[in-house]
Amino acid sequence: MSEPTPITEQAAAEAVAQAIQAITAASNSAELRAARTSFAGESSPLARMNGSLRDVPNDQKATLGKLVGQARGQVNAALAAREAEVMAAEENARLASEAVDVTAVATRWRPGARHPINLLMERMSDIFIGMGWEIAEGPELENEWFNFDAMNFDEDHPARAMQDTFFVEPLGSHLVLRTHTSPVQIRSLLDRPLPVFVVAPGRVYRTDELDPTHTPVFHQIEGLAIDRGLTMAHLRGTLEHLARSMFGETAKIRLRPNYFPFTEPSAEMDVWQPNAKGGARWVEWGGCGMVNANVLRAAGIDPDEYQGFAFGMGIERTLQFRNEMNDMRDMVEGDIRFSQQFGMVV
Ligand code: PHE
Repeated sequence: MSEPTPITEQAAAEAVAQAIQAITAASNSAELRAARTSFAGESSPLARMNGSLRDVPNDQKATLGKLVGQARGQVNAALAAREAEVMAAEENARLASEAVDVTAVATRWRPGARHPINLLMERMSDIFIGMGWEIAEGPELENEWFNFDAMNFDEDHPARAMQDTFFVEPLGSHLVLRTHTSPVQIRSLLDRPLPVFVVAPGRVYRTDELDPTHTPVFHQIEGLAIDRGLTMAHLRGTLEHLARSMFGETAKIRLRPNYFPFTEPSAEMDVWQPNAKGGARWVEWGGCGMVNANVLRAAGIDPDEYQGFAFGMGIERTLQFRNEMNDMRDMVEGDIRFSQQFGMVV
């Protein structure tokens, strides 16, 4: 047990003064709690004085009791007053920190945008979906056989060199990055029951330098129709429908003789673009033709029973002349501002 604390007017006044100094100095609720423990807690000077009252002579009990009681009252009053101030200050600080300025200009999160190449591929695909065609796919890392051999390119056919191919190591793996979407023709014929009506949009690769009109990675959409009795008239009608859907009712196409190993006869297709900015014009759009009998044979189909047509066009090129874009590099750089100009439709 500690020594009884002497109770004097001076000791009580000093205890009150110390307490009030600490209470006034407390600037937050934690400091105030510490001051309360030190100056009003069980082992505070005034509490100890209070405890000593037991030992004072009876005739002094009333006076000293009143002295200690008043001192403790002053400390408690000071604590209560300071507590109210500190709480109010803390509440204000909290409200200020949580304040929301409803008039502030919001941080703008720009919505993303789909790439116009994808939008255009979907749009073109949808035109064929509307005619009951299906979407077909093939790998971008393709076997040479599908990319060339099955498509009737001879071993040393100049056409093989005509398409500048990325051959994939190890040499002799017979793997290439597909140079066109045409290998999907043979894959579709091997995979699907006849008749076959498919379009195959997708990415293709050629060893071109990136410049305003070339990119080593680009996109094509391939079309293939194989059934009994299909003729070049069906090819024409199909492409004309595509042209009108894309360029308006007055669009039309024309075919110029050309050569592809996988079609015979083959043609280069031009489209009459009535709504071109600089005035209506013919634009070279893609290749097409009647599927070569050797391609059908490679897929195990009897060319005397089934015939059909195929076509393919570049998506970047289509976007370029259809949407008046001068520089193909804009399409590959990935700047969101480029895509945003198109919104969600092309
Ligand atoms: N594959 C050819 C190319 O990339 C285009 C084409 C497809 C031509 C189908 C005829 C038939 O140029």
